[in-house]
Amino acid sequence: MAKDKVEVTRELDWTLLPPAEVSQVEGIVLEKNLCNNWDKIWNFQAKPDDLLIASYPKAGTTWIQEIVDLIQNNGDFEKSRRAPISLRQPFLEWMRSTVSGIDEANAMPSPRTLKTHLPVQLLPPSFWEKNCKIIYIARNAKDNMVSYYHFQRMNKRLPDPGSWDEYFETFLSGKVIWGSWYDHVKGWWKKKDSHPILYLFYEEMQKDPKCEIRKIMQFLGMNLKEEVLDKIVYYTSFDVMKKNPMTNYINDAAMNHHLSPFMRKGVMGDWKNQFTEAQNKQFNENYEKNMTDTSLSFSMEP
Ligand code: A3P
Repeated sequence: MAKDKVEVTRELDWTLLPPAEVSQVEGIVLEKNLCNNWDKIWNFQAKPDDLLIASYPKAGTTWIQEIVDLIQNNGDFEKSRRAPISLRQPFLEWMRSTVSGIDEANAMPSPRTLKTHLPVQLLPPSFWEKNCKIIYIARNAKDNMVSYYHFQRMNKRLPDPGSWDEYFETFLSGKVIWGSWYDHVKGWWKKKDSHPILYLFYEEMQKDPKCEIRKIMQFLGMNLKEEVLDKIVYYTSFDVMKKNPMTNYINDAAMNHHLSPFMRKGVMGDWKNQFTEAQNKQFNENYEKNMTDTSLSFSMEP
C-alpha cells in the first residue's frame, strides 16, 4: 500500500513538471538553461588526471560509466553502490536550478571522472590543453534514434518528441538536443587521431563485453585479475544494472519509468520493431549521403 502511494506521488510530480525549453549554441540545440550559462561551461578548468566519458545521448553512456567506476574500484560492487552514477561522475554541462555539473565537478576531489554529451567542437578547450584521457562510446544510428525517442518520451528534462513519425524527421534533420548524430560520431572519430581517445562501440560491447572492458582497463593504465574482470562483466550486465537503483535512474523524479524505463531493452537491432519499410529506405539514403566522408562504420544487424 505504502509503495503504491509513493508511485502515485511520483507520477503526479512528473505530470506537473514544466516542459523542457531549448535554445542553441553555435547552431547546436541544447537545453535553455545550459545555453544561458554557456560561458561557465566553456571556461571549465579540466585537470590533467580527469577522465572524461563522452557520447551521443543513448549510446550506452551509463554502461561505460559503471564499468569505469568498477574498474577504478577494483571490481568492488559495494563501493560502486556508494551513490547514484550521476553523482559519482558529474554530468559536465547539465544545469538545473539547484544542481550544476560544473559545480559538482569543481567540488570533487581528484582524480575525477566526468560525463559529457557535447559534440567535439563544443568541449571546453581545457580538456585538450590538459591532454585529458577521454572514452567515447558510439552506437549505430538506428538503434540510437529509437532509444533517444523513448527517452524523450519519459524524461521531462528533454522536449516532448511528438509522434515517432515526427521524431524520425527531427532526428534526421539534426535538430535534436546535442545536435546531429552524424556530426557527433564523426567529429569525435576524427579527433582521436590527435588526442588520447578510446573510441568504443555499443555493438562491440554487446558481442564481447569482457574484451571491451579489458580495453578500458588498459586505457586507464590498470591491471586487474581475470576473475575481477569477470565480476565486472556480471555487475554491468543489463539485468543487473536494471535492478541496481544506483544505475537505473529509478529515483529521478523527471523520468517516468512507467512510460518507458531508463534501462529499456538493452539490445541491438530494436530499430526493426520501430522503423517502417519506407522509413528504413529513407534512412539508408540519408545515411549513405552523410557517411561518405568518414572511415567510421557501424554494424546495424544483430
Ligand atoms: P535502450 O533504450 O535501447 O534499451 P545512455 O546510458 O547513453 O543513456 O544509454 C542508454 C541505452 O543503453 C539504453 O538503450 C539502455 O538500455 C542501454 N544500456 C544501459 N546499460 C546497458 C547494459 N548494461 N547493457 C546493454 N545495454 C545497456
